[in-house]
Formats: sequence, C-alpha cells, structure tokens
Amino acid sequence: MSPILIMEDIDAGYGDVVIVHNVSIRVDEGEIVAIVGPNGSGKSTLLKSLLGFARLFRGRAFYQGRDVTGMASDKLVSLGIGYVPQVDNVFANLTIAENLDMGAYHRKGRDSIRAGVAEIYEMFPELGARKDSLAGNLSGGERQMLAIARAMMAEPKVLLLDEPLASLSPKPTKVILSKLEKIEETGTAIVIVEQNVRKALSVSKRGYVLVDGVCAMEGDADSLLTEDVSKQRYLGLEAKGY
Ligand SMILES: Nc1ncnc2c1ncn2[C@@H]1O[C@H](COP(=O)(O)OP(=O)(O)O)[C@@H](O)[C@H]1O
Ligand SMILES: [Mg+2]
Repeated sequence: MSPILIMEDIDAGYGDVVIVHNVSIRVDEGEIVAIVGPNGSGKSTLLKSLLGFARLFRGRAFYQGRDVTGMASDKLVSLGIGYVPQVDNVFANLTIAENLDMGAYHRKGRDSIRAGVAEIYEMFPELGARKDSLAGNLSGGERQMLAIARAMMAEPKVLLLDEPLASLSPKPTKVILSKLEKIEETGTAIVIVEQNVRKALSVSKRGYVLVDGVCAMEGDADSLLTEDVSKQRYLGLEAKGY
C-alpha cells in the first residue's frame, strides 16, 4: 500500500509556543490510523498544523506524494483531505439536508449533489430518516454522524476526525465506530484522533501515541493494545477503565 498522507518531522504550536515536537506520521491508502494520547498532548494541534489552523514551525506534509506543506485548507479539501473538527462541526440552525448541501460546494451541478446525498443516506440511513430536522436538535451521536457525513460529501480520500467519540455514551460510540468501518470499506483512509484509546485502536490498523507533544509509541494497533501494564498505565488506559 502506498502512503496517502505523510507528515514529517512536525514542530507545531501557537504564537511562539511549540507544542508538538518532531512528530512524523504515515497513513496508507484506505487504512484507519489512530492518534491517541491524554488531553493536552498535542493531538489536535498536529491535525490543525496540516490545515493551517495551528502554526507549523518545521516539517513537511505530503499528500499522494505531492508536497502540500502550507497549502490553504480549502485547497486541501478539494484535493481529497476531509477534516472534521472536534467542536462546531455542523451548522446547528440548518437541517441535516442543508448541512449536507454545504459539504457539496465543490461538486458541479444539482445532479451530482443529489447523487452524493443519496449515497450518504444509504451509508447513514439515520440521517435520511430525519433529513428535515435541524442539526441543533440532534443527539450528540447523530450530530457527530452528520459532521462525518458532511465531510464525506466532498469525497475525501483521507478523512481526519478530531475526537469523534468525545462525550458519547457506549451505544452511539458503537454506531460511530461501525460507520468508520463502513467508510473504510469504500477505500477512504481515516485518521482518528482520540482520547478513548481502546475504542480508537479497536478499529485501527496502526496507531501513534502522543504524550506531551512527542510521539511516545507507535505500532500496530494490536500490539499497542497489548503493551505491558506499565505502558498501559502510562497511556492512562488503566486509570480510565477503557
Ligand atoms: N489556540 C491555542 N492557543 C494557544 N495554545 C493552545 C491553543 N489550542 C491548544 N493550545 C494548547 O496546546 C496544548 C495541546 O493542545 P491540543 O493540541 O488541543 O491537545 P489534545 O488535542 O491532545 O487534547 C495544550 O496545552 C493547549 O492548552
Ligand atoms: Mg484535541
């Protein structure tokens, strides 16, 4: 499998403060990769530095082999990099259908948009059933589903999700994870940033563990999950009962 996204030797942060130190990640076509670690470890900052929402001090990004370092976020989206931020990721005062239309701005013509929406409702029947409901009236899980669906309208080849499971109870968590597996089946790669280490690794092929802005561990998801107890404690897996 060839890499779809590479971030290499990234130093990133805000203002003059460097938060992420020398982090490199690789995502192969069609695979799910987890970036896990405790709150404040720099996971969101790493993603944001790709999109230009955090300051990139050093390092380069390659998408499909092309150097995209410093490229504007809308250009990245049109190339096939989907991004779902952790908060404010849907328009609360628009309906589900309207939110999906907003995700289709790059598509040419009504027919193409309609076809895209039909595909989305096939993958997310829960959304189709409530297409005229305001996003603001949805449950946390439904809203997260809509945010992901909206990003899928742009037909990304790699989807970057910032904490899609945050504050979801077990049932919606399971639903979202199964949607991610469905998306993976379509050939779209996914980067899932999560504090919920166990859940994120359970659907991932590989993972990176960020602690205090540095990559403390990386490897196959299975081997990260079965790391020895001292490392599990270090990941916060034990204390939080994940
Ligand atoms: N916009 C910002 N300006 C300044 N510091 C920030 C900003 N956003 C996050 N930080 C700081 O960067 C550090 C890492 O944050 P973040 O990347 O959000 O961590 P994570 O996503 O792993 O929880 C934290 O110490 C946080 O306070
Ligand atoms: Mg975060």
